[in-house]
Amino acid sequence: MKRREFIILSGASAIALATGCSDDQSKTPIDDLGRDMMKADVGEDAQRQQDLNEDLSEDGTGEADIADLGIINLNPLPIPVLLKGEQRGGIVNYDLNVQESTHTFFENIAAPTFGINGDILGPTLLLENGKQISINYKNQLAETITMHGHGMHTPALMDGTPHQPIMPGQTWSAEYTVNQRASTCWYHPHTMDETAKQVYKGLAGLIIVEDDESKALDLPKRYGVDDIPLVLQDRRFKDGKLDYSPSRMEIMRGYIGDTLIANGAIDSQFDAEAKEIRFRILNGSNSTVYKLAFSDGRSFKQIATDASFLEQPVELSELTLSPAERAEIVVDFTNDMGEELSLMDLTQNKSFCRIKVSTPALVQTSLPQNLTSLTKLNEADALRTRQFVLAGPMMRLQINGASMDINVINESVKLNEIEIWEIRNNMRVDHNFHIHATHFMLLDRNNQPVPENEKGYKDCVYVPANQSVRFIVKMVDYADPNVPYMYHCHFLEHEDAGMMGQFVVIA
Ligand code: C2O
Ligand code: CU
Ligand code: CU
Repeated sequence: MKRREFIILSGASAIALATGCSDDQSKTPIDDLGRDMMKADVGEDAQRQQDLNEDLSEDGTGEADIADLGIINLNPLPIPVLLKGEQRGGIVNYDLNVQESTHTFFENIAAPTFGINGDILGPTLLLENGKQISINYKNQLAETITMHGHGMHTPALMDGTPHQPIMPGQTWSAEYTVNQRASTCWYHPHTMDETAKQVYKGLAGLIIVEDDESKALDLPKRYGVDDIPLVLQDRRFKDGKLDYSPSRMEIMRGYIGDTLIANGAIDSQFDAEAKEIRFRILNGSNSTVYKLAFSDGRSFKQIATDASFLEQPVELSELTLSPAERAEIVVDFTNDMGEELSLMDLTQNKSFCRIKVSTPALVQTSLPQNLTSLTKLNEADALRTRQFVLAGPMMRLQINGASMDINVINESVKLNEIEIWEIRNNMRVDHNFHIHATHFMLLDRNNQPVPENEKGYKDCVYVPANQSVRFIVKMVDYADPNVPYMYHCHFLEHEDAGMMGQFVVIA
């Protein structure tokens, strides 16, 4: 597993490096490194990134290796640009261009991709609770998209569902006031029947929501240094290019890739400080459930679920995440100077990325015992139980016997009424269940107590084959009888095949 990926910085790569610095268009891994080292030269976003991470150039994360050792990590873990937004008229604006591009997964092969302000994936949006924001998506593709803020508590009109299409050339803005707890959320297309393919090509990005609590906690917070975004995905390639061509069977089972990528890169390396490191992990795959662990079997602490902190950190050595679920974890590398390890998916026994503990800590943090306290709804106060049966009669993928129909509202949910939703997977394949509009809390899983690490707020829950889950939920804002939210399986092949429904929130 431990592959040495360092090479001596030879004359040839030094030339390539220089080329990379002057020509932003040529795309080889070496050029990527060149761009990484010359952030100030490659545009506004990069400049902003450098401003944010001023210590990046001084702490020796990459550069010291070169200077001190004459060696270089040729394939550093890409860190998406952190977009803090631009104040315009009292509103924080995030300007996003959804565009066609190419990305170099394999040396010298330019694979056609979609990206947001870049060639694959998108910047990480930094949002602050209470702020009025506008996320402006400009569709520069030749096809229609929608862009959804997954995990964001927004009015239905601002949710970016199939009801808010963005035609080629158009700009659509999700405008709302951030009104939720600190969490790691994300944005992705939600185009009717086309979501899987568009996400596969590269459309997804993280959203970090901060609040007073998250700012006050002694957690790793230096973005890209000890607070690391990780979009985990798997892909199939054909001649070095993305291959998305699911058969009927693969739509039923989910389209699983044999190559793992982290932030869009294959087999990259993160150079870590010898301290606590926080990873904000998104399972950004189409339909793959990951069983995450470190190659040395070390334990770590999960500190957050999809939509909130856990009340206390939960110690784990393995973490299961189904598509669209997020987990924040803190791993302690304080005594691991020089260690090399991998973040693994145990299901496939493959590595997402390597981690090398290579730098002394610049700033220490100490994980608090108590992270937050969560408002818990009482089961006895629930006014009703709604059942959702995930089933697949005759090779169809349905919920309660119906396939997604954009003209049908399947459920009406009353504002401020506490409800239990019971999800049953009656199939021999795995699913999960995601709701828009708000978060929920699990009551039980397959009639068993909820695992400690699933006791935070969630918006997506794994429902393995032939199992069931119950959660408790209350719609607290944004009643709108005309514009629905979605609920669906977040295995994207299933979602596109019809395993999705619509609900309105009514006053
Ligand atoms: Cu992540 Cu309905 O979406
Ligand atoms: Cu969503
Ligand atoms: Cu499913």
